[in-house]
This record gives sequence, structure tokens and C-alpha cells, in this order.
Amino acid sequence: ESLETLLVERRGRVGLITLNRPKALNALNATLATELTGVLAEFDADEAIGCSVITGSEKAFAAGADVKEMAGKAYPQALLEDFIAVWDGFARLRKPVIAAVSGFALGGGCELAMLCDLIIASDSAKFGQPEIRLGVVPGIGGTQRLVRAIGKAKAMEMVLTGRMMEAAEAEQAGLVARVVPAADLLAEALKTAETIAAMPLPAVIAAKDCVDRAYELTLAEGVRYERRAFYALFASEDQKEGMAAFIEKRPPVFKHR
Ligand code: HXC
Repeated sequence: ESLETLLVERRGRVGLITLNRPKALNALNATLATELTGVLAEFDADEAIGCSVITGSEKAFAAGADVKEMAGKAYPQALLEDFIAVWDGFARLRKPVIAAVSGFALGGGCELAMLCDLIIASDSAKFGQPEIRLGVVPGIGGTQRLVRAIGKAKAMEMVLTGRMMEAAEAEQAGLVARVVPAADLLAEALKTAETIAAMPLPAVIAAKDCVDRAYELTLAEGVRYERRAFYALFASEDQKEGMAAFIEKRPPVFKHR
């Protein structure tokens, strides 16, 4: 397929998407948003894919929403087009998506990383929500997801001052799963994605779904939600196979993966 803003390839059971607007530091324009959510939905529906990876360039994962595209919008136009709604597509994805972040992840770029299920960062990664300097606030969930990821103190400081957070601080604060040397970023992200893609898919879908519920539910409701998912997996062939393989001391051969 020929896309204007992305490079897309399949690496075995992993779908790899590279943001490709190098002249604009991968600024997220409307075309990119449509293409990205479209490709992710295709991968999500594809039995041959178990996990996706989104990456950018060494210099920039994404430097934010495209300011040049946004700057002239009037309020009724912004409201009526609802140009942010395209990103709601992430909420419908059932298979995991990994963000492999090098360089700038600013504004919508930081929010895109947080829309992914986990972030692996290179030691050069820089996260920030600089929207305040443009006279706006984060608009793709940044004020909400950043607070949940790193807590109110650091989130409030970042959103009010626009200061960037380096990779080490982001890891310490819990924004990223892991920091790796820049040269290893893609390989490490792909390795993690391959590991996930080799797991039994019914359990992967349930696991992501349950962890996501922790953002939304009370502890008691979340624990009940998890328990229903746990029992339901005993209806899957892969649970029978996974446990039989363990007892028989052999590698499992999963049906759904
Ligand atoms: C459009 C952008 C861009 C952006 C960079 N560029 N970021 N274009 N939208 N968000 C363009 C520049 O205009 C320039 O193009 C080219 O990319 C290279 O950028 P430079 O600024 O020359 O690079 P550098 O000096 O290395 O600085 C890198 C940078 C800086 C620190 C990342 O580009 C920067 O501050 N970018 C904006 C970051 C930002 O404010 N993001 C939040 C956007 S608002 P030309 O053609 O001029 O050479 C947002 C809201 C999301 O994200 C929610 C609503 C959807």
C-alpha cells in the first residue's frame, strides 16, 4: 500500500509502522492521523499480526500536532470537524501497540506515545507537553494520561511550564517501560513485540483489556472484571495447551497466536 506519511512493514507477526514526515519532525497532520489509525485497525483485524510497533526517526518520534495545519482554525470549525476524534481509534484496538521513542515526543507526540500500550525509549528520548507555550493545552488526552502515568506533581509541572523530561527521568517516573541505547531501540522494541505476538492471543487481548480497566474502575470493580476474564480463559484451547505443556515439560503449541 502506498501511504503519504508512514512506512509500513510486516516483520513476522509484528506490524511495524514508521512515522515518515522527516521535514516536519513527524508532526501529526490530519493525513498522518487517518493513515496511522487506519493501518492500526487493519493490523488489529489481521490474524497474522499479534502486536504492532510505532516508531519515528532518531531525531523525533513526533514533535506534536501539526501547528501549521492547526494555527488558523476558528472555534466553530475546530468544534464541528472535531479533528481530534480520529485518535479515538486507539481505544478500539484490542492487540497491543508499542511506542519505540527516540528524540522528541512533544505535545501530540507525547500523547501518541501514551495512547500506545507501552513505551520503550532510547536514551535520547525527550518527552514534553509544550502546548501551553502555544496558548492551548494538550488535546489528545495528555492532561489525563500524564497524570495517571507519572502523578500529579510532575504532570502539573510539565503541562504548566512545557519543560521536557529526559529518558532517565521518564523511566524513573514510570512513563516508559524501559530505556535502551539509541542504536538498539528498534531491535529491542521488535523483540518485545515478537514476545507478545508469540503469546496466545485470547490471553493477550484479555490482559491488555484488564490492565486498561485499572485506569477506569475502582479496585473492587477492577478485581471482579479481572476475575471474570480469568475464568473465561478456561474456555480457550490455549489455556488447556499452555497448562498441559507446562505439566508435560514441553513447549506449548498455541492455536491462536
Ligand atoms: C509543524 C513542525 C512541528 C510541529 C517541528 N516542525 N515541529 N511543524 N508542527 N509541531 C517543523 C519546523 O517548523 C521545521 O520546519 C522543521 O519541522 C524542523 O523543526 P525545527 O524547529 O527547525 O527543529 P529544531 O530547531 O531542531 O527544534 C526541534 C523542536 C521544535 C524543539 C522539536 O521543532 C519545536 O519546538 N517544535 C514544536 C513542538 C510543539 O510545540 N509541539 C506541540 C504542538 S501542539 P521548517 O519548514 O520551518 O524548516 C500539540 C497539540 C496536540 O501537539 C493536541 C491537539 C491535536
